[in-house]
Amino acid sequence: MSTKVNIVILAAGKGTRMQSLTPKVLHRLAGKPLLQHVIEAAKRLYPSKMAVIYGYGGDTVPNAFAQEDIIWVEQKEQLGTGHAVQQASPKLDDDGITLILLGDVPLLNPKSCLALINKTKSIGLLTVNKQNPSGYGRILRNAQGQILSIVEHKDATDDQRKITEVNTGIIAVNNAKLKQWLSQLTNNNSQGEYYLTDIVALAVKEGLTVEAEVTHDESSVEGVNSKADLAALERVYQLAYATKLMEAGASLADPFRIDVRGELKVGKDVEIDVGCVFEGHVTLADQVKIGPYCVIKDSVVGRATSIAAFTHIDQAKIEADCRLGPYARLRPGAELADSAHVGNFVEIKNSQIGAGSKANHLSYIGDATIGQNVNIGAGTITCNYDGVNKYRTIIEDDVFIGSDTQLVAPVVIGEGATIAAGSTITKNAPAGQLTFCRAKDQKSIPNWKRPVKK
Ligand code: UD1
Ligand code: MG
Repeated sequence: MSTKVNIVILAAGKGTRMQSLTPKVLHRLAGKPLLQHVIEAAKRLYPSKMAVIYGYGGDTVPNAFAQEDIIWVEQKEQLGTGHAVQQASPKLDDDGITLILLGDVPLLNPKSCLALINKTKSIGLLTVNKQNPSGYGRILRNAQGQILSIVEHKDATDDQRKITEVNTGIIAVNNAKLKQWLSQLTNNNSQGEYYLTDIVALAVKEGLTVEAEVTHDESSVEGVNSKADLAALERVYQLAYATKLMEAGASLADPFRIDVRGELKVGKDVEIDVGCVFEGHVTLADQVKIGPYCVIKDSVVGRATSIAAFTHIDQAKIEADCRLGPYARLRPGAELADSAHVGNFVEIKNSQIGAGSKANHLSYIGDATIGQNVNIGAGTITCNYDGVNKYRTIIEDDVFIGSDTQLVAPVVIGEGATIAAGSTITKNAPAGQLTFCRAKDQKSIPNWKRPVKK
């Protein structure tokens, strides 16, 4: 593309029908603010400048996108879409073309925007035919099919309201013309607003042709006005994502019941059961199996690892052939080597678990380094925290930790050691030996009776 492209995103509106304290464009779809989706689609058009018009919610909107290279333009009062673009007008290049996007249309397709830009000489509209066009600006064409103007729903006659071709709000316009037309807008209409859409009639008055790119992908131009709209578009997004996962080789128990809030990479023959949520960047290698209702965030899972129902994984690295869950919890810094097993109600944080090692039941493992082929008995706790500082527990290869053991860190359990069940270990345990530390005497009281209720 040789023409310089500027992009202006309109995002100043309150979104009254969201019934929310949060500005509409900060509501999330697939884990990201609506406006983030629009910005990302816009970036794929390589604009030379991108401006966002903000207003309702004040600085909370720009602050949410501090890392983006954006010209923020405040529209103090929302006097209409034309008024909004007027605020950005001085920042736009004198040559080139401006693409106007809406901050509440998140599933925007960059390909249709590009097609629109490419066919636009002075002004072009992205339009769509809607079964129910109510509320939208209608596209008026003459008998030859040439566009004459856009009439807003509230200003339209009954006959005009029967027109099903509507303005998506996405408009490409030559910058020099735009600047000239913006200065001619009036607010002489039913809403008392400066309508951007009035520039179409101004172009026609000059004898210019208005181009149209008609899209058939309705969801890609759908705006969010209510929480119901947001939920509906979320499902559209998720179903499309699920379809891509299946194309990449994943089997989904139900493509309608998966949520990816970020990026999920899958290998071949990955199986994902219902109700799973993936957040941030997650990679599942070939043949990984995920049971129902797992939540996995920013993690890597190695080949043929199997994760059973209700397992939560956050910032963990899991290698091949591991078995996790049901009800396991891996927290940041958990690293499992090949064939490790982590069972129900086991929490692991900032710890390395060596190849073939197992913690199958009811344990807390925090700040620990565990070697290979270690068995951690049920109910084992690493006591890593004294209320102020954290300390490490080191368990060498081939250790057996009996059930209900407390390992009070810092502590080292030597290679091949066995710790007797019920021990509270406060000192290093030597390699190869049995170490135990329990209350000494086991007593029995003959003829003792359980208390009874009086
Ligand atoms: C607008 C179009 C209509 C189109 C529809 C598509 C106009 C006059 N009408 O109508 O033809 O069919 O979008 O959804 O352009 N905004 C501002 N500042 C303002 C007013 C609006 O930033 O002063 C932003 C809103 O936050 C929103 C977008 O512009 O993201 C559209 O505004 P909205 O009030 O929803 O316009 P519609 O009446 O829906
Ligand atoms: Mg609207």
